Amino acid sequence: MQTTDTPTPTSAPTSATSTAPTASTASTATVPAPGSGSAPGALPIRTAVVIGSNRDGRFGPVVADWLLSRLRPRADLDVDVIDLAATDLPTALTSRPSPDVAAELARVSPKLAAADAFVVLTPEYNHSYPAALKSLIDWHYAEWQAKPVALVSYGGVSGGLRAVEHLRQVFAELHAVTIRDTVSFHNAGSHFDEEGRHRDPAVADAAARRMVDQLVWWARALRTAKEEHPYTA
Ligand SMILES: Cc1cc2nc3c(=O)[nH]c(=O)nc-3n(C[C@H](O)[C@H](O)[C@H](O)COP(=O)(O)O)c2cc1C
Repeated sequence: MQTTDTPTPTSAPTSATSTAPTASTASTATVPAPGSGSAPGALPIRTAVVIGSNRDGRFGPVVADWLLSRLRPRADLDVDVIDLAATDLPTALTSRPSPDVAAELARVSPKLAAADAFVVLTPEYNHSYPAALKSLIDWHYAEWQAKPVALVSYGGVSGGLRAVEHLRQVFAELHAVTIRDTVSFHNAGSHFDEEGRHRDPAVADAAARRMVDQLVWWARALRTAKEEHPYTA
């Protein structure tokens, strides 16, 4: 995993820190403490996890399985998944979608609309994020507004960090709030064994916990704010 490139005021490690594969450890062995800081009786945060790659032979499901195994046990989250490999939205936008496209939107859009928060999992393609992910984003507008977005990335040497920075700009345009901390895997394949288990998950798990705790904070704060003052863009 990669560090963020934002310098901290001290020499303390940044929040998304590096891992190097060591001894094999089952990824399910160190599930984070569920729902740390969740207020008793607080409604869980409806969290849509977007799996952003859709190419044949993609590595995305391996990272997605690790991510979902960390998210699903949390009592403060209610997790839904939108996998772009199972989503068929054209790149050509139109206000008069064909029946097929309308049916696909009817399947996907309500999931985005119902979400209080998002976790977007993205690889890096040519220093950015995949076209299918841009397409999903662009087909929607209000569904993203005034909601927090956490970003998990993977790739080659970059760990997908350039894709993450591009997504921050895009989500800002949509009035969404991206979370400061990320989780990123450089040379992603090297972190997982043949069964798709993270070889040494402690640092990645801690980074995910910090990121999701921040996501939940923002989702709760925005939920309260929107109850008091509906967001008007
Ligand atoms: C078209 C394409 C472009 C890529 N460009 C980059 C890149 O710019 N930087 C990088 O670190 N990795 C790059 N990679 C490596 C991918 O991030 C890596 O293979 C990742 O596993 C792809 O995700 P996927 O397997 O879920 O599709 C690229 C891969 C593809 C297919």
